Amino acid sequence: MYQHFETGALHDISQRQPFGALSTPIYQTSTFIFESADQGGDRFAGREEGYIYTRLGNPTTRLLEQKIAAMERAEDCVAFSSGMGAIAASLLTFLSQGDHMLADRVLYGCTYSLMCHTFPRFGITPEFVDCANLEALAAALKPNTRLVYFETPANPTLKIIDIKAVCDLVHRHNPDCLVMVDNTFATPYITRPLGLGADIVLHSATKYLNGHGDVIAGLAAGRQDLINRVRGEGQKDITGSVLSPHDAFLLLRGIKTLKYRMDVHCDNARKVADFLAGHPAVAAVQYPGLNNHPGHAIAKKQMSQFGGIISFEVKGGYDRARQLVDSLKLCALAVSLGDVETLVEHPASMTHATYSPQECAAAGITDGMVRLSVGLEHAQDIIDDLKAGLGGPG
Ligand SMILES: Cc1ncc(COP(=O)(O)O)c(C=O)c1O
Repeated sequence: MYQHFETGALHDISQRQPFGALSTPIYQTSTFIFESADQGGDRFAGREEGYIYTRLGNPTTRLLEQKIAAMERAEDCVAFSSGMGAIAASLLTFLSQGDHMLADRVLYGCTYSLMCHTFPRFGITPEFVDCANLEALAAALKPNTRLVYFETPANPTLKIIDIKAVCDLVHRHNPDCLVMVDNTFATPYITRPLGLGADIVLHSATKYLNGHGDVIAGLAAGRQDLINRVRGEGQKDITGSVLSPHDAFLLLRGIKTLKYRMDVHCDNARKVADFLAGHPAVAAVQYPGLNNHPGHAIAKKQMSQFGGIISFEVKGGYDRARQLVDSLKLCALAVSLGDVETLVEHPASMTHATYSPQECAAAGITDGMVRLSVGLEHAQDIIDDLKAGLGGPG
C-alpha cells in the first residue's frame, strides 16, 4: 500500500500486467477455459484459485476491487453493476424474515424505496430514525435489530452523521449488529468509515469514483468474512449484479484522478456555497463546510474536506425551484452527481419522488430544495449562471 492516496490511485497494487501493459487489460470474456475436468472441479470446490465465469470473478474487475479495498483500508471489496446492486446485495445477504433494521430518514430515493416498500414484503421490518440523534437511535435498537444503515453526507440534505459515535453505540448494544455506511458523497479520499467502526462501506461508483458520467457501478468493502458472503450470496445468487469488465476499466481510469478532481470539486463548492449563502433569493444553504451547518463540527472531525454537493432552498418553494433549474444554462439539469460537469436537480420531484410529501417533510426535503453537484468548471462561471437564474442583485 502506498503512503499517499494519489500514488495508490495511479499504480496497480498487483504485479505487472501481461506484455508490460501500462493500462489495465480488459478481459472481456464471460467464461474461462479449464485445462481439465479436475481443474474445473477444483476451482468450483475452492481447492484451486482461478477464474471460472465472470459473474463469479474477472481479472479486470478484481484489480478494481483490490484498488478500492486499499483506498478504504478494507480487507476486501466486491464490485457491482450499480450502486443499488451493491446496496440490495449487501442488505439481502444479511437480512432474513423477522429481522428488524434501522436506517436514517435521509437516504437516496431508491435506497429508501427498497427498504420502505420492498423489505416488508419479505418479512423484514425497516424503521427510519434520526441517526444524528444518538438518544433516539439507542431507544430504537431492539434485540432483533440486525443492521443499521445510513449515508453521510446524506442525499439530498447533506445531513452529517457521526460514524464513530453510531458504530460505538450500535456495537455496544450488539457486537453482531452490522453498521453499513453509504460513502458515495465523501469517497475514500475524504472519509474512511471502516476505520471509524463501520462493518461495510458502500458506494455508488457511478458518481465521484468514476467521475465522468459514463458508467453505472457499485461497490461494497469491508472485512473478508463479510465480503465473502456478499459476493457468494448477495451477488452470485440473489442479485447477479455484476460489473462488466469494460466498466471496471473505465472506473480504474477515472479513479486515477480522484484526488485532483475532489480537491477542485470541494474548492468550487465552498465558493458556490458562500455565494448562495449571501444571496437574498436563497432561504437556506446546506453545505457541511459552512459554520452554521448543524453537522459542521462532526464533518470537520470525520471528513478531510467538505465535498462537492450543495443543497439550497430558494424562496418561493416548489414553482420557484423548478423555474430556477429550468433557467440555468451552464449547470446541466440532470440527476446523478460527482461528474466533472455541474449538475442540478430538484429532489422532491426527481431523485426523492419515492418519498411521500409527509416522508419528505420528516426527512427535511423541502419543495424549494435544489441539489447542486458542483463540477470542475471555473467557480465564477458556475456562480454567474446561478446569479442569472436567481435574479436580483446577488
Ligand atoms: C448516495 C447514493 N447511494 C446510492 C445510489 C445508487 O447508485 P446507482 O445509481 O449507481 O445505482 C445513489 C444514486 O444516486 C446515491 O446518490
